Amino acid sequence: MDIASNDDHPLRRLTLEQLRRRTSMKWRTHPEDVLPLWVAEMDVPLAAPVARALTEAIAVGDTGYPAGTAYAEALAHFARERWGWDGLAVERASIVPDVMLGVVEMLRLVTGPGDPVIVNCPVYPPFYQFVTHMDRRVVEAPLGPGLRLDLAALEEAFARSTAGGGRAAYLLCSPHNPTGTVHTAEELSAVAALAGTYGVRVVVDEIHAPLVTAEAAFVPYLSVPGGESGLSLMSASKAWNLAGLKAALALAGPAAADDLARMPEEVSHGPSHLGVIAHTAALREGGRWLDAVLDDLAENRRLLAALLAEQLPAIAYRPTPGTYLAWLDCRELGLGDDPAAAFLARGRVALSPGSDFGTGGDGHARLNLATTPEVLTEAVRRMAKAVG
Ligand SMILES: Cc1ncc(COP(=O)(O)O)c(C=O)c1O
Repeated sequence: MDIASNDDHPLRRLTLEQLRRRTSMKWRTHPEDVLPLWVAEMDVPLAAPVARALTEAIAVGDTGYPAGTAYAEALAHFARERWGWDGLAVERASIVPDVMLGVVEMLRLVTGPGDPVIVNCPVYPPFYQFVTHMDRRVVEAPLGPGLRLDLAALEEAFARSTAGGGRAAYLLCSPHNPTGTVHTAEELSAVAALAGTYGVRVVVDEIHAPLVTAEAAFVPYLSVPGGESGLSLMSASKAWNLAGLKAALALAGPAAADDLARMPEEVSHGPSHLGVIAHTAALREGGRWLDAVLDDLAENRRLLAALLAEQLPAIAYRPTPGTYLAWLDCRELGLGDDPAAAFLARGRVALSPGSDFGTGGDGHARLNLATTPEVLTEAVRRMAKAVG
């Protein structure tokens, strides 16, 4: 296939047969008769500039260790162009192996063993697993009405977590996985004010940020008043489907620069050089491909809403512009706490079980709509059959 065409309707290019040749988690966890719409991998060909950069690196044997600040410079450029944010300082950026290991390292900088880490459930399951694995304690502050940040619940969790005078961190997901909620500047400013009042350190996972449409207006946490003491993790991994090419960036606001400077040097040995090359090319030259993906995703959201309205009207689905994930409220279907189990067993469609996302997840399932319209259509048909 001519790679230049990869940038034209990326979510319409690959057949199921081509996709099944993939050996990644999405395609190898379930048997072949299962349609996988679970883990956050996209059914896209690589963006042409990324494919070219990698091919060139392979051709010259450029497979050593990473060096330099090209990734951070590319992200700073992207942030200026897309979000109108010119506050990303390369000297306050460090490469980390991936976003979750970056989250762990940032939490290590601002908390100690046993300290609380506040999360907004339902939320990306590894937030629980990684935080627990590093001997911190997860404290839940549930999302509020409309699946938006609930500032009262957050304040209560901040107050409770700092009551003994100890350290606490808030692990914010922006935009939010699984709901796709895009937090507003007002909400983020209120978060920063609360964090300042209670002395809670904010670590923000902004991995899905490049997927937010221009109309939905992603706001970087470090750009809001009070966000100066925040630590952020960003990556090209979700938006360009580069999870297998390990690299991410940890960013510090001006008041957190000293914290980031304490991150041990060896952490920067984790990202792969090919990962850094791929992510840098994506951010620098992958804009056209990304816009094409965003157009295809918008279509898929409309398609999913229409298919559900027609075939599974009992499922509540609210299209959101923040991710390529759809959070399906299946409680009216009578499938119990784990509707994904029924869809898998009876429909041969793999979704992510809502209960994995913490309190508020029961009775829900997360569907990954970064696939072709054909697969999406067949998945909903199978889900409806599983219920009917
Ligand atoms: C919110 C969020 N953070 C982190 C990750 C994982 O990122 P990485 O593979 O860079 O650790 C994902 C993957 O889906 C995600 O949705």
